[in-house]
Amino acid sequence: MAQNTSPSRYTITAALPYTNGPIHIGHLAGVYVPADIYSRYLRLRGNDVAFVCGSDEHGVAISMKAKKEGVTPKEIIDKYHAIIKKSFTDFGVSFDNYSRTSAEVHHKTASEFFKKMYEQGDFIEEETEQLYDDEAKQFLADRFVIGTCPKCGHEEAYGDQCENCGSSLNATDLINPKSTITGTVPSLKTTKHWFLPLDRYEDFLKNWILEEHKSDWKPNVYGQCKSWIDEGLKPRAVTRDLDWGIPVPVEGGEGKVLYVWFDAPIGYISSTKEWAEREGKDWQPYWKDKDTKLVHFIGKDNIVFHCIIFPSMLEANGDYILPDNVPANEFLNLEGSKLSTSKNWAVWLHEYLEEFPDMQDVLRYALTANAPETKDNDFTWKDFQARNNNELVAIFGNFVNRVAVLTHKYYGGEIPTPAELTAVDKEALEALKEFPETLSKSLGRYRFREASQQLMNLARLGNKYLADQEPWKLIKTDEERVKTIMYVALQIATGLAILSEPFLPFTSEKLKGILNVISNEGEKSIEWDDVSSKATLLSAGHTINKSELLFRKIEDNEIQQQLDKLEATKKANAQMDKEAAPLKDTITFDDFAKLDLRVGTIIEAEKMPKANKLLVLKVDMGLDTRTIVSGIANSFQPEDILGKKVTVVANLAPRKLRGVESQGMILMTEDKNGKLVFVNTDEDGVSNGETIN
Ligand code: MF3
Ligand code: ZN
Repeated sequence: MAQNTSPSRYTITAALPYTNGPIHIGHLAGVYVPADIYSRYLRLRGNDVAFVCGSDEHGVAISMKAKKEGVTPKEIIDKYHAIIKKSFTDFGVSFDNYSRTSAEVHHKTASEFFKKMYEQGDFIEEETEQLYDDEAKQFLADRFVIGTCPKCGHEEAYGDQCENCGSSLNATDLINPKSTITGTVPSLKTTKHWFLPLDRYEDFLKNWILEEHKSDWKPNVYGQCKSWIDEGLKPRAVTRDLDWGIPVPVEGGEGKVLYVWFDAPIGYISSTKEWAEREGKDWQPYWKDKDTKLVHFIGKDNIVFHCIIFPSMLEANGDYILPDNVPANEFLNLEGSKLSTSKNWAVWLHEYLEEFPDMQDVLRYALTANAPETKDNDFTWKDFQARNNNELVAIFGNFVNRVAVLTHKYYGGEIPTPAELTAVDKEALEALKEFPETLSKSLGRYRFREASQQLMNLARLGNKYLADQEPWKLIKTDEERVKTIMYVALQIATGLAILSEPFLPFTSEKLKGILNVISNEGEKSIEWDDVSSKATLLSAGHTINKSELLFRKIEDNEIQQQLDKLEATKKANAQMDKEAAPLKDTITFDDFAKLDLRVGTIIEAEKMPKANKLLVLKVDMGLDTRTIVSGIANSFQPEDILGKKVTVVANLAPRKLRGVESQGMILMTEDKNGKLVFVNTDEDGVSNGETIN
């Protein structure tokens, strides 16, 4: 029985987030919430757990963000590291350590890791032709180059990876590569790099993944690994010609840095070292003892790095353990569209925490109940509201509140002594005892979604028990029976307090406060296993504390506000897309000089009969007055534009529209909401007829 397995040592890692933006719900659902549930669960079961993470601060993602904002990479990483770290803390992610890859301990650990492999002859050193941006005078790798994925045809694959099909790529594999710095087509230039010859690890990987983990790894993870291995692995460059990263610590490495995907996973080891140092522990058993279980929580775009490349590095290095499991999740979408940091299409954690204070558990629950475990999933604010109102409030909260309130009302908060248990009572208590095992089974298989529903089922069980027994009616006729009912309900509530901890840590804490119990603190505390093994969790005579509400209803207007916010983002993005419309072909100065642009004033305006888009305007051009037909009737009322100064193309060949000759064109643009506006000058004293050049 899973319940009785002896405690083990676990090293749990959660993908190091890039510090090029804050954390959003996609990161949470895919990685941090399941990793936290799992770590909390393992600790509750008495295991020795190191749950480590940190910021991923090297690589092109950071350089690009810095370039875009016109600041140094250091400023970018400091800013986002602080935001990310704080939001994780406030959200209750129970990392034992949150480090960063710019930390000295990490630079040292990664350098030594590289050097050892170098000295062992684990790399191939090779001069190859790499993509080069002649304008930016820079080699292009990773996110500095996009092009068509040779595997799936996705047109925006990066130089190291296609996010569409998950393939890991070399920049030179891309079809039609383009520099993301200048937009130019790169040339090829020779440079020296160190390569990890993954082909040397094929047999090792075949045996370790395809044989040993055939049945315990998730099908999506196993399937991806299998297809890479089956396709044949090629050497991968693990150094780059960049100026941001960990310097290549060997001869000839001047001016080059480690590839971010070489250094970042080593960050898990550095973070463990930092933690061990602080706690006065030895880090090595967490990475080198064969009995330690290493589990990587990641999103599906990270599979190749955690299942193929990093394990090959660990294997090459010699004395490291390999991951026991890599329960990668699929992606979460938001209201039907792909989450995107650059497009601001996200629910940002730090904003959520401000807008929904003290509601961490609601988001944890909504994301877990709808986790993208086996396929991509969609987060909608409506579903979030429903999970809260219909489940957390109406089932969990309602049950607990009834139990606590009635216990105070009938017994002044003291657990009553039960009379003889009826069959229904025994059934309820027996059912309660099953839950630790049921939950353990799901959690042990990384089925967090299923587990969250089982937890809710326990609350349902309690709710139904009370609804069926109706103590509030019986109290008038059978006080003895009510004592038994309340006693049983209190046991279920206590079970909920203990078993909900991994999923709803804040709620569990509150509920334990109400029930006046402790857990995980020695002698008198109630443990996970007690829920199935002890006949009584709360004895008669124990006093509980005052009830407080665990959850509150979320109103429609709160949800509407969030939807409005997303709608505004959509509009702003549409506007940006327009701004980003591609430039037309270059014209010569002579071409430009042919245009006669002049200032004019609209002096008459009326609707064109039977043409609902057109206005017929008279424009005072200084020298003459022109008739101009303009397709702006949907945007302006004639009377509103009288006296408007406008810019006119004065020498456009006249043409007839609905029988009216239009003698020019008025220049228009759009404001940020997509509304038409005139292109004009606000300077005083510019006369009609003045030329614009
Ligand atoms: N920063 C990477 C990402 O967000 C994940 C790095 S995981 C690590 O996709 F293993 F490299 F640390
Ligand atoms: Zn692809």
